[in-house]
Amino acid sequence: MPLLVDVLTLFPRMLDGVLAESILGKGIAAGHLAVRVHDLRAWTTDKHRTTDDRPFGGGAGMVLKPEPVFAAIEQLQTAGCRRIYLTPDGTPLSPVLAQELSRERHLIFLSGHYEGIDQRIRDRVIDQEISIGDYVLTNGTLAAAVVIDALARFIPGVLGEEKSLTHESFTSKLLDFPQYTRPAEFRGMSVPEVLLSGNHAEIEKWRVARQVEKTRQVRPDLLK
Ligand code: ADE
Repeated sequence: MPLLVDVLTLFPRMLDGVLAESILGKGIAAGHLAVRVHDLRAWTTDKHRTTDDRPFGGGAGMVLKPEPVFAAIEQLQTAGCRRIYLTPDGTPLSPVLAQELSRERHLIFLSGHYEGIDQRIRDRVIDQEISIGDYVLTNGTLAAAVVIDALARFIPGVLGEEKSLTHESFTSKLLDFPQYTRPAEFRGMSVPEVLLSGNHAEIEKWRVARQVEKTRQVRPDLLK
């Protein structure tokens, strides 16, 4: 059975392009994973389809109400599924976490509201909270897309070549080396000689040196 991913969001159309295109789109089309996007409003019961309300205790903004979220998750959840809330105060997404998620059978992602969600949701129907970085998005839908994309790459068959998974940033804790393709000369800029030499030992040495140089410049924290 392929991994099943349910996404609960107030903005389902934000995911249309993301899930249809590129390697993720192909992976879904090929049945390596299934993604179902749900509009939270489908679980509202009032005439105005209300999903948020003012915070108790005062303050700016609106808070996502518990009723539609509980109803949605209780309907969708299965035994052993992992229910994830996307939030900037969650556990940072990492390759290890993405790979761990890729091995689950059923994930439910809840995209939050800009201002926050009722704490009782987090206390009762959420198993894990994940952040995609130290910045604040207008809502968690793009964050859910990022996590889905990152985990999909670890599902066997989604990436054509298994090789492409091993030879890249963050599996080695070094940033990538520069890549070149034809033409060997373009607008006066030539490809480094060593890459045209056919000497694989020299090429490997050159690539590692570029990786260390780039990592020292951009992410010295990775070298410690
Ligand atoms: N929702 C808003 N900002 C977010 C972030 N950085 N990570 C995950 N979910 C979010």
